[in-house]
Amino acid sequence: MNIGIFKKLLNEHNKKTLNDNLEQLLAEIMHESGAEAVITEKGKDYTISRKYLCSALKQVKAAYSVQRMHYYLKRLIKSITTVRTNRVNDINLNRWQEYKNIYTDSLWIFPKRDSSGLHNAGYWGNFIPQIPNQLLQRYTRENDWVIDPFAGMGTTLIEGKKLKRNVIGIELQQKLVDKVNHMISRNYKDEAGYCRMYQGNSCTFAVDQLLKEHNLTCVQHLILHPPYHDIINFSADKHCLSNLSEAAFFKAFTDIVLRFKNVLQPGRFLSLVIGDKYKAGEWIPLGFKAMQTVLEQGFSLKSIIVKNFDDTSAKRGSNELWRYRALAGNFYIFKHEYIFIFQKK
Ligand SMILES: C[S@@+](CC[C@H](N)C(=O)[O-])C[C@H]1O[C@@H](n2cnc3c(N)ncnc32)[C@H](O)[C@@H]1O
Repeated sequence: MNIGIFKKLLNEHNKKTLNDNLEQLLAEIMHESGAEAVITEKGKDYTISRKYLCSALKQVKAAYSVQRMHYYLKRLIKSITTVRTNRVNDINLNRWQEYKNIYTDSLWIFPKRDSSGLHNAGYWGNFIPQIPNQLLQRYTRENDWVIDPFAGMGTTLIEGKKLKRNVIGIELQQKLVDKVNHMISRNYKDEAGYCRMYQGNSCTFAVDQLLKEHNLTCVQHLILHPPYHDIINFSADKHCLSNLSEAAFFKAFTDIVLRFKNVLQPGRFLSLVIGDKYKAGEWIPLGFKAMQTVLEQGFSLKSIIVKNFDDTSAKRGSNELWRYRALAGNFYIFKHEYIFIFQKK
């Protein structure tokens, strides 16, 4: 289909004829198969969601005057052939209605973990793949570089591969590093996106050196998913943040934020995924304490997202017991964690 078909409609000034032509065009588009329509202009192909195209044409048809119909048509033509982004991501703002899968609300409810592809739900404490997926789509562009200093089972790297982003993961546990690197190199051959895990302590990791090896001076996004202090013991390593006192945890966390902030491009974003904990019958607002720590290192707060807590099979069995404990002990059961979004000033 050529863009000329749409442009020709702008020469029509009779409302009834314009309506008939639109009706015919809509029938043609709906008759063809495939979720995407291909529209050509000057030998270049543009793909557009068929559903979006039809709803935009229906909006043209429903307009009350020919002038308004032409206005909507011009807007549609522009949205097909020109891309406008905010330069932080690849979302085409001229077609923003098409991005139904991108969250813009601050409450994220995931009924189910995405367990497709290489994702392994077996690593206790990993985040659900939808989290890095949403963050990478909102805060990075194709070929951008991302660092995850608490990479665990490599969820960010797998999503990075899918979205053609370059992700450097740093993780204390050598066995996880080997597993993830092996899994990625075995399953992805030539696809775009350099995604690799490195073993190390993020408090001291020579990130400048690593970036130099890639001829980089900075990265475009940081995703931090630290241990929620000591609620899960990830390893016996004395540098693991889950093995530190609360004061030492925050000291190490501050060091990590500062170390990686230095290589984050100014104006770009840091995402922090964290939950709270209980200690001796008291709710410890670990999330807000960590948020404050990041703010003190020269970031501004862009959003606080509340995400529902995964209902793991381990917890499901003890739900009733926890309900009893909550009723008896005058507290509420954790059902959420936070995703804080910060921008480097
Ligand atoms: C909450 S998990 C992250 C899980 C990850 N987002 C995923 O989806 O698999 C935290 C990870 O941080 C690692 N870790 C803890 N202290 C660290 C440190 N000082 N340097 C690097 N990694 C560390 C732990 O071994 C653990 O795998």
